[in-house]
Amino acid sequence: MSSFNDFLGLHGQLDALFLEHQRGLIRLDLDTAEAALDEYAGALLAHMRDEEEFMLPLYGERVTPPVGGTVEIFLSDHVKLKRFLELFKEEIAKIRGMEDIERGVLFLIDSQHLFKRLLVHHDNRESKMLYPLLDQVTSESEREELFAKLERPYEWDSTKIDNHSQRESSFASAGSS
Ligand SMILES: [Fe+2]
Ligand SMILES: [Fe+2]
Repeated sequence: MSSFNDFLGLHGQLDALFLEHQRGLIRLDLDTAEAALDEYAGALLAHMRDEEEFMLPLYGERVTPPVGGTVEIFLSDHVKLKRFLELFKEEIAKIRGMEDIERGVLFLIDSQHLFKRLLVHHDNRESKMLYPLLDQVTSESEREELFAKLERPYEWDSTKIDNHSQRESSFASAGSS
């Protein structure tokens, strides 16, 4: 049975890509960090486009949003997340021109803490409101039709999975403060 909740698995895959980016950073391997960031940004942007084009309009039409779960809140989170992705890309370009690469990398990792906190809050809102409420107001055939249109459908790939529990442990500190 198809379910919007399956997209939690996609969130886990995205987190795994971001972890690869940060692994590159702590090794001062800017080429790896940049390639992983590009892959992550491409995947996250495609997922956000799917939510904005197909999921949020349906949610806005059919769901009476709970407190903290309006379409506007989801969209404003997306705007902030996109801005962060641009900043990270700019920052890597700056670090390449720095004499003190370690200092630049530490600054970037610090700035990513805020991003991870926002992402945890956003994903929680989606897992508690957007996805389960969409499941309630759609039929199985509607879901299948909608999933077939997505740019970034969720596919189980055991080689790329950072499952939800791993994710909670890696991002827990970011979300708890
Ligand atoms: Fe989202
Ligand atoms: Fe999402």
